[in-house]
This record gives sequence, C-alpha cells and structure tokens, in this order.
Amino acid sequence: MSLLDLARTIEFPKICDPRGNLSFVESARHIPFSIKRVFYIYDVPGGETRGGHAHKECWCILIAVSGSLEVRLTDGTNEKIVKLNRSNKGLIIPPGVWDTMHDFTTGTVVLALASHPYEEEDYIRDYDEFLEYVKTQK
Ligand code: TYD
Repeated sequence: MSLLDLARTIEFPKICDPRGNLSFVESARHIPFSIKRVFYIYDVPGGETRGGHAHKECWCILIAVSGSLEVRLTDGTNEKIVKLNRSNKGLIIPPGVWDTMHDFTTGTVVLALASHPYEEEDYIRDYDEFLEYVKTQK
C-alpha cells in the first residue's frame, strides 16, 4: 500500500442552525493523530500556490473553512487531486506525500491541523530530494 492511499478526505460534524452552522474536530474521535499545532493560510493572492513540500513524520489535515482550493498530492509515482470546498471537509495528508495547494478562490482560509510542532528538519522542500527520500522508504 502506498502512503498516498492514506491520504483521504474526512467529513466533520456539521450542526446546522438558522443562526449559522458549526463544525468541530476532536482528535480522539475524528482524526488519526493528536493535534500539536494549528496554522492557517489566508489572503492568498490570485494564482498563487502554497505548500510544495512533504514531511518525514508530521501528519496534517487541511480544511477550507472558507472558500475553496485544490490540493495536488503525490507519492512521487501516483497523484491525487482533491478539491476542498466545504467548511466541514478535511483532507488528511500523511508524511511521505508531497502536497501543493493551488486554485484558491478569493478570500479562502485554510485551517491546518498538524501532529507535530513546527520543525524545519521535518520538511522536504526539494522535489528531487523527495524522490530520493521515497526510494529509501521502500
Ligand atoms: P511554508 O511551510 O513555506 O508554508 P506553506 O504551507 O505554503 O508551505 O511556511 C512559510 C513560513 O512560515 C516558513 O518560513 C516557515 C514558517 N512556519 C512556521 O514558522 N510555523 C509553522 O507552523 C508553519 C506552517 C510555517
């Protein structure tokens, strides 16, 4: 099984209410790791891409809490493109998978939940290095 198979979307509870909807995430109930870090991406200029890296250990979940974007995932061989366009939909990105975020609509806010604190040593930011890394993991 490829690590890419572990990349999947997940639907969080949505409590619909005339006052506005509410969604929530609980580590133990909804996701395969405990959350050590939260970050968010916003004010992305039209046409920009974000991401463009893989992690060695860190798992991430991306949620377009507002707006929409596409995420391209690859394990170096196969790829998946996932559209995030609902506030209660998350995309689980396991370590060893390269992700790129693109096609942000204006005003999109991406919430990211991560299994590890920020550690630059955990990032692979060079695609050729990623391809080499993937070979060592087989
Ligand atoms: P980067 O990983 O390049 O963002 P993207 O999600 O687009 O790939 O991060 C941009 C900068 O922010 C970089 O200098 C590292 C810093 N950063 C932190 O300090 N903490 C964090 O939790 C994250 C995600 C990034």
